[in-house]
Amino acid sequence: MKPKIVVTRKIPQQALELLERTASLYVWEKEDKVMPRELLLKEIKDAHGLYSMLADRIDTEVMDAAPHLRVISTMAVGYDNIDIAEATKRGIRVGHTPDVLTEATADLAFALLMATARRLGEGMACIKEGKWKNWSPMFMAGQEVYGSTLGIIGMGRIGEGVARRAKAFDMRILYHNRTRRLEAEEKLGAVYCSLEELLDKSDHVVLLTPATKETYYMMGAAQFARMKRTATFINVSRGTNVDEDALYRALVNKEIWAAGLDVFEKEPIPPSHPLLSLDNVVALPHIGSATVQTRLRMAMVAAENVLLGVKGERLRYTANP
Ligand code: DGY
Repeated sequence: MKPKIVVTRKIPQQALELLERTASLYVWEKEDKVMPRELLLKEIKDAHGLYSMLADRIDTEVMDAAPHLRVISTMAVGYDNIDIAEATKRGIRVGHTPDVLTEATADLAFALLMATARRLGEGMACIKEGKWKNWSPMFMAGQEVYGSTLGIIGMGRIGEGVARRAKAFDMRILYHNRTRRLEAEEKLGAVYCSLEELLDKSDHVVLLTPATKETYYMMGAAQFARMKRTATFINVSRGTNVDEDALYRALVNKEIWAAGLDVFEKEPIPPSHPLLSLDNVVALPHIGSATVQTRLRMAMVAAENVLLGVKGERLRYTANP
C-alpha cells in the first residue's frame, strides 16, 4: 500500500507529480488559505508524511493525532512553527528548504533596503496621488546606500548573500552573530562586533536571525534608541524578533529614519495596523523567497524531503538537532 502524505496547500504541479508517483495524497487546495485545523487533525490520522507551510502550526496536538507520522517537511527555511523538540522526541524527521532560497531572499532584503532608504514607496504614492508638483532640492531626499555602513544581524547563508551584494556597493559591513564567521570576514571584509556596537555604528541594519526563544523581541525600545536617527531598519527574518510597538514609537519619534518590513508578528498584518499608517515604513507581504524559480525549487526540495522521510531515509535537509 502507498504511504499517505498530507499536503497543506496547493503546490506546483511538478512537485505534486513527484509525490504522486510514490504516495497517496491528501492536498488542501480548495481555497488559497491555511488548511483548517480540524481538517488537518482528521487527515493526519492515517498519514505517514506531512508536507506543510510556515503558516501551519505543527505542535503536540497534531503529532498526537498522527500515530503513523514519520516526517514533517516544511516548504520554508524557517521552522519556528514546528515543535522540533517534540518531533525529535517522537522520532519524527523534520525537513526544510535552505540553500535554494538564499539568493532570492538576499535580493529581496537588498531591494527592501534600497526601497526604504530611497523612499520608493512614498515616491510612487506621491505620483499616483497627484502630489508631485515639481523638482526641488530636498524633495523625497532619502539616505545614501552606496558607501554607507551596513549592519547584518544574523550572518547565516542569507546574511552572507546580503553582504556579497553590499560589497559591490562599497559598503562597510559589520555583523553580529552567535558565533564568528571567519569565512565572511576573510572573503567579504565583514567585521564582527557586539549588537550594541553594530546598532551604534550602522547606517542600515538588516535583521536575519531565525525566530527562537533567544531572539524573541530582540529588537525593542533599547535597541532602536541606540540606532542613528538617519538609520534604516530592515526585517526579512520573522516578525516575533521585533517589538512592533517599540518600532512604531521609534519611527514616530524619529529615533530612526525608516523601516522596511517583509515579516510581521501577526501575518497577514491587518491593514489597520499603526505601522502601516506611517510614510517611513515600506511593508511587503512576506515575499522574501517569492520568485517563480525559487518557489519551484523549494517545492521540489520539500517533496524530496517528505519522500525520503516516509521511506525512513535521511532527509536532504533536516531541522532536527
Ligand atoms: C522561509 O522560507 O522561512 C521564508 O520566510 C519564506 O520565504
